[in-house]
Amino acid sequence: MINFPEIKSEIQFIQKNNEVELFLLREDLIHPEISGNKFRKLKYNLEAYFKGKYDSILTFGGAYSNHISATAAVGKIFKIPTIGVIRGEELIDKINENPTLSFAQSCGMKFKFVTRSAYRNKSDPAFLEELKSEFGNVYLLPEGGTNALAIKGTKEILHEKTKDFDYICSAVGTGGTLAGLINSAENHQITLGFPALKDSEFLHNEINQMAQGSDFELISEYHFGGYAKVKPELLEFINAFKQQFDVTLDAVYTGKMMFGIFQMINLGYFPKGSKVLAVHTGGIQGNQGMNQKLNFKNKKMII
Ligand SMILES: Cc1ncc(COP(=O)(O)O)c(C=O)c1O
Repeated sequence: MINFPEIKSEIQFIQKNNEVELFLLREDLIHPEISGNKFRKLKYNLEAYFKGKYDSILTFGGAYSNHISATAAVGKIFKIPTIGVIRGEELIDKINENPTLSFAQSCGMKFKFVTRSAYRNKSDPAFLEELKSEFGNVYLLPEGGTNALAIKGTKEILHEKTKDFDYICSAVGTGGTLAGLINSAENHQITLGFPALKDSEFLHNEINQMAQGSDFELISEYHFGGYAKVKPELLEFINAFKQQFDVTLDAVYTGKMMFGIFQMINLGYFPKGSKVLAVHTGGIQGNQGMNQKLNFKNKKMII
């Protein structure tokens, strides 16, 4: 059995503006390849994998998925065969052009490319059975790595030194990270989630099902047009943030959240004297793929 370290990430002061203090919880520094919420989500799933004597881990993701990248890296480090079911059949002969997929392949991950419509069945029991009969005794991890064991892991993001903050902020995809934060936040803390997707109304219910704890709110104004969509002001913000604070943000999740928090501080959303803690959930590997797309369109890239 492997013993995973208990990691308490450092808190970095960012700024005091409008009488609100903003700090960043550097979960992105946990590991260069399994950073942020990915380490948290995989930790107890790996324990379950080793206990259950499975042959491989099978999971799901898109072409630039941070979760696919982190699962492949875990496979390489722990010598676990990994299989990625990837959305988009057309990617089958574009692996070398795609930084996420080529990294995952270099870690030993095998792929099954499926059409977008087949991919929608990713949680359908019949589809999962089909995958099991094709790949054998697989440990199934859902898209984004979110399941009950992942939430047990994301509950460990907060620690002794995060107890004094008034607000805890996180980017939201599936909501598994926010659920863990809600479950471990102090009663006086308000947890704010910043969805990376456009139509995020459904998330409130989903998160309510995964979490039982302190108050939470979803701030849905900072998706910038939808999942993985960007605008020049977002990219400028990410680059200025890097220059000023020496912290790289990603354009899909943490950049949008930080942009939102900065704007909310300027607009007076947080009461004066508040202490705000934003969780840096990693995802920097995604900037390579984003820069490829920006470069192709002759747009300014992320530094
Ligand atoms: C870097 C990063 N931040 C935040 C999230 C959101 O996490 P969750 O899916 O648990 O809401 C993700 C997605 O998995 C991510 O890759």
